[in-house]
Amino acid sequence: MSRPKVFVTRRIPTVGIDRMREHADLDIWLDNLPPSRETLLQRVAGCSALLTLLSDRIDSEVMDAAGDSLQVISNFAVGFNNIDVDEARRRGIRVGNTPDVLTDATADIAVGLMLAAARRFKQASDQVRQGEWGAWEPTGMIGADFSGQTLGILGMGRIGKATANRLAKGWNMHVLYTSRSPKPDVNRQLGAKQVDFDTLLSESDFISIHTDLNAETEAMFDDTAFAKMKSTAVIVNTSRGGVIDQDALVKALRERKIRAAGLDVTSPEPLPPDHPLVGLENCLILPHIGSATDRSRDGMAEIAADNVIAGLNGQKLRCAVA
Ligand code: GLV
Repeated sequence: MSRPKVFVTRRIPTVGIDRMREHADLDIWLDNLPPSRETLLQRVAGCSALLTLLSDRIDSEVMDAAGDSLQVISNFAVGFNNIDVDEARRRGIRVGNTPDVLTDATADIAVGLMLAAARRFKQASDQVRQGEWGAWEPTGMIGADFSGQTLGILGMGRIGKATANRLAKGWNMHVLYTSRSPKPDVNRQLGAKQVDFDTLLSESDFISIHTDLNAETEAMFDDTAFAKMKSTAVIVNTSRGGVIDQDALVKALRERKIRAAGLDVTSPEPLPPDHPLVGLENCLILPHIGSATDRSRDGMAEIAADNVIAGLNGQKLRCAVA
C-alpha cells in the first residue's frame, strides 16, 4: 500500500522529522526562505497532511490544490491565524497547533524585551558600538523603573499568565489584565485584577500583548489607544504584529506619547529594514524568536509530528484547534 505524502514547509527539528518518517513519505522544503505561493500550491498536490509554519497562508486555494486526500494541517506554532480554520472544519480537515511547550520561552522574551526597552539597551549598546561612550553620566541613559510598577496584560492565556507570574513574583508588579473570561486563580495567585481595555491603557506602566490576532484584536492599539496610555509607558508585543497599528505606534514613539516599545512580532515579517520603526531609538525589534529555545522548538516538532500522525490515522489530534 502506498504511504501517505506530507509536505513540510520548512526544516524543523529532527525529532519531529524522524517521527513522521515512520508513517509517511515526507517532502521537506529545505530553503531558509518560505516556498513561494506558486511552489506551495504545486507541492501540496496529493498530500494527506501539511506541516506548516505561521508564515504560510493556508486557505481554500491551498486546500483545493491539495485535493481530497488532505486530512490534516499541523501548524508548527501555537497561533493559527495563518490558517482558515472555518474552511478546514467545513471540509472535515483536522487542524493542530503546538501550545504549552513554548509558554516559558515566550514569557521570557516578553520580560526580556520589557526590561530592555525600559532600560534602553538598544541606545546604550549602540552608544558603545559607535564609539560614543563618553564618561559615566549621572543624568545619562535614564530609563524606566521596573520594580513595583503596574503591569497590564492583554490576554490572560497561558503566555500572559506566565509573563504576569514572572513580573509579579520577581519584580513585585501589580497586575491588571483584560480577558474574555474572569481568571479567579490568577487573581488569587498574583493579586491580579481584571479590568476593561481603557483602564488597562490608562493605568499600566507596562503593557504586554498576549492575545491572538482576530477581527476584534486587529489594530487594537491605534491612535486612540496610544493617546490613553501614560507618556512613560512601555509596550511589548510577543503575539502577532497585527494587534498594533504600526503607523500609530511610529507616531506615538516619535512624539513621545509613550516611552518605548519592544516587539518580537511585526506586520509584515520580516519587517523591511527601512521601515520607520526600525530606525527609532526607543523601539527594540526582535525577529520573532519567542519560542526559539532548544526545548521549545523540539517540543513543537514533537507535537506537530504527533498531530500529523494522528490526523493520518483518523484519530483525535494531540493538540487540536479543529
Ligand atoms: C509563534 O508565534 C507561535 O504562534 O508559535
